[in-house]
Amino acid sequence: MPRDDSHLPKALQGLRVPMVASPLFIISVPELVIAQCKAGIVGSFPALNAREGEGEHPLLDTWLTQIKEELDRHNQANPDTPAAPYAVNQIVHRSNGRLDRDLEICVKHEVPIWITSLGARVEVNEAAHSCGGIVLHDIINNRFAKKAIEKGADGLVAVAAGAGGHAGEQSPFALIREIREWFEGPLLLSGAIATGESLLAARAMGADLGYTGTPFIATDEANAQQEYKQMIVDSGAEDIVYSSLFTGVWGNYLRGSVEAAGMDPDNLPQADSSSMNFSEGSSKPKAWKTIWGSGQGIGAVKSIGPAGAIVDRMAAEYAAAGKKLAAEFF
Ligand SMILES: Cc1cc2nc3c(=O)[nH]c(=O)nc-3n(C[C@H](O)[C@H](O)[C@H](O)COP(=O)(O)O)c2cc1C
Repeated sequence: MPRDDSHLPKALQGLRVPMVASPLFIISVPELVIAQCKAGIVGSFPALNAREGEGEHPLLDTWLTQIKEELDRHNQANPDTPAAPYAVNQIVHRSNGRLDRDLEICVKHEVPIWITSLGARVEVNEAAHSCGGIVLHDIINNRFAKKAIEKGADGLVAVAAGAGGHAGEQSPFALIREIREWFEGPLLLSGAIATGESLLAARAMGADLGYTGTPFIATDEANAQQEYKQMIVDSGAEDIVYSSLFTGVWGNYLRGSVEAAGMDPDNLPQADSSSMNFSEGSSKPKAWKTIWGSGQGIGAVKSIGPAGAIVDRMAAEYAAAGKKLAAEFF
């Protein structure tokens, strides 16, 4: 029986596997997004990854044109297996001085899915809706979830413990249950979903889709150093350090990268949230270049390869795990 996703917005229906590839700072570039969409899952990137030089044409505009043209070409050549839609992530923090300009560009391109993080704002949701887009807002607890929906987001990304980059501390079981008590709309679960079995578990506990980032770092299309990709392959959950030091927000990072930067991963000082800064020229984004973000799900990443191979693997695992469990009930 096909998956019933008729309750979801059109942009989230008919995916090959119920999954969104999460936006990854620095790492998600058009090549990766296009590969994810062609493989049948929503691909995404942070608008801030598109950084042009002084006085140059906005790179975000160029990237969106490139993604749309390539996906259109693919869809014309493969009408039976069209690409999934793409998403753009907006960091809605007051230090993001580009936000208004980036919103305008996204409206012009009629971006179908908007992922917002670090602040829910009515104007951002209105901008997305003005061009037919939907907004999925990133939250780490039920209180923020309620706020996001009150401000007009269409769906939620519940970022649970173990997620790569900025992450929550709550068990996914607790977080999804509390949100599902009052919210029937699109709900995605983020945090160490790196296998089809985990994806099925996310759906069983009440999420509509999984939200996966870290495995896509170790791919040919990812904009990451080879050493970073290899460390993802070589590390396990115990190699992940949860710290607020690097951006002012609690997040998960690779222990090996913290050590390589000359710090003791077991004795990191805390930073407060006032040190968050996403402005152009800020030194903070550079932290991501040497201190490498990663979720706890990396035990499932065995090699570096094409992004499509991750989707193929997870699709096969998802189907096999579903069949195995279904046998218990019929
Ligand atoms: C290296 C890295 C960079 C990230 N950058 C962003 C970002 O720019 N914006 C955002 O909303 N989330 C970002 N995230 C978090 C993801 O959106 C998502 O919550 C996470 O990847 C899911 O957990 P997983 O990595 O265990 O699959 C980042 C995660 C990682 C690992």
